[in-house]
Parts: sequence; structure tokens; C-alpha cells
Amino acid sequence: MPEPVALITGASSGIGAELARVFARHGHRLVLAARRTERLELLADQLASNAAARPLVLTVDLLKPDAGDVIQSALEREALEPQFVINNAGFGLAGLAALQPRERQLDMIDLNVRALTDLSLRFVGTMERHRGGLMNVASVAGFLPGPKHAVYYATKAYVVSFTEALHEEWRSRGIRVTTLCPGPVPTEFQAVAGTGNAVVETPMTTFADRVALDAYRGLIAGKRLVVPGFLNKLLVYGIGLVPHAALLPQVAKRHGPGTNGAPPGR
Ligand SMILES: NC(=O)c1ccc[n+]([C@@H]2O[C@H](COP(=O)([O-])OP(=O)(O)OC[C@H]3O[C@@H](n4cnc5c(N)ncnc54)[C@H](OP(=O)(O)O)[C@@H]3O)[C@@H](O)[C@H]2O)c1
Repeated sequence: MPEPVALITGASSGIGAELARVFARHGHRLVLAARRTERLELLADQLASNAAARPLVLTVDLLKPDAGDVIQSALEREALEPQFVINNAGFGLAGLAALQPRERQLDMIDLNVRALTDLSLRFVGTMERHRGGLMNVASVAGFLPGPKHAVYYATKAYVVSFTEALHEEWRSRGIRVTTLCPGPVPTEFQAVAGTGNAVVETPMTTFADRVALDAYRGLIAGKRLVVPGFLNKLLVYGIGLVPHAALLPQVAKRHGPGTNGAPPGR
């Protein structure tokens, strides 16, 4: 009988690493996936030393079209089956869409949307058999258009829409489906996206360990949506009341001055 596991993508840093810690604390056997093997191995060692079974480390580039096949084969080889699938890997890119590298923006769609969709649908049978669940990491950005982060916000809008639909579709199969929508969280995300450190100073900032704990509790409770932090909840629920014509310039302003949307000094 294959062993049930929680598969977490993007576990080599930030929210994904904290999610791994929370799942391990709650006794789940883990599969940690990302590109940076050393980071994953280090985390796996830490988690194993706290009496949890050592996670399986999978070095995988989710931009590769066969990444889903690679993950599935590796799990089958080890007689492991996803009970929980956590699609957390993702990145953003700051700046006006027309001035940013097109390939990088298409990569964002491949990772934030295509890979997430593949892994969401690929393991539905095992999630059902083990009465587990799916968590997809979106963002508060999924609830509004994002000038100077246009493609990123659009990918997260997809994640919100897709995951909420699965929540409804899979309810009768006994599979929990949760969309996690953090506001700003200080992680490597800001350096990768080129947004600088401004995130640390906002009143909406939440920290990765808190986000991960809220996420885990929400998933286990079968919540449709988890938005960590009071102000972020207020934003998500209030945003529908503001016309986009008024919202768009405010979002653009928040993402920095200048015409190209690049962070200062870049
Ligand atoms: N930080 C925020 O303010 C914030 C807010 C809302 C939502 N989010 C979302 O939260 C999720 C986690 O972000 P984070 O803040 O924790 O950022 P992070 O620290 O940069 O972590 C991103 C993770 O994704 C992995 N990843 C990136 N490209 C990959 C690829 N091609 N293949 C496999 N793995 C890849 C990275 O691992 P490797 O580099 O080792 O591959 C890393 O583990 C993302 O979906 C992000 O959009 C973040």
C-alpha cells in the first residue's frame, strides 16, 4: 500500500519552507520539490532531526513541460502517493509589461498557471483515496488588476478562479480545496520580482510562519479561502466595492513611481 504524503512545491524558501515545517509538525510525511537541491536537503535534515520521517527531496524545474511526469514517476518509484498537494512555487516580476522581458513573463504563466494546473489535476485520485486536499497559493493580487505587475496579478486571478471552482467540484468527492491568498510577506519573492524591500514596512505585511500556520489550519478545516491578516481580509472583501477605474491608478502608484515601473536604482 503506497504511503500518503504531502507534496509541497517551492519548499526551498519562504512560504513553502514554512508550510513544510507546519506539515511536518503535524505528522505528515513530505515530498519537497524545487530547483535548489541543497536548500531542500538542508530542510529535509532539519525536519528529520525533529523525529519526523525524512522528507523525499525532488529537484525539479517546474518550467519544464515534463515536470509533472517527473514528479509522478519519482513518487511511484518510492511507493508514495499525494494525500495533499500544495502548489506554492511561483514568482512575480515588477515593471510595465511592455518593457519587461516577454520570455520571463511567459515563464511566469508556465509556473504560476500551467504547472499548478497540472499538479492540481494529476493527483485527484490519490487525494480522494486518502481523503486529503489541494492548496493553491494565489495572493490578494488575485482580486484586482495589477498595473506594473500585470502578468503576475493575472496569473493569481487565474489561481483564485480555478481553485474556487475545484472547491465546489470536489466537495462531493471529500477532497478539501483551499486557495491561500497572502498579502505582502517578506521572502525571496521581492528580490526575484525586483520590488525592493518596501514590503517589510507595510501595515499589511504578514510573516511566512504565520501565513503557513493559517494556511494549514484552513486547509484541514476545509476552508475555501484563507487570507492571512486582518487588513488583507478587509482588502479582499472590500475590493469588490471599488470601481476599477478608481482602483487602477492607486495600484500603479503603490508599485512605484516612474514610467517603467522598475525599482529605484535598477
Ligand atoms: N512573498 C509575498 O509577498 C507573496 C504574497 C502573495 C503570494 N505569494 C506567493 O507565495 C508563493 C511562494 O512565494 P514566496 O514568497 O515564498 O517566494 P520565494 O521565497 O521566492 O519562494 C518561491 C519558491 O518557488 C520555487 N520556484 C521558483 N521557480 C521554480 C521553478 N521553475 N521550478 C520549481 N520551483 C520553483 C523556488 O525554489 P527554487 O528557486 O529552489 O526553484 C522557491 O522555493 C508564490 O506562489 C507567490 O506568488 C507571495
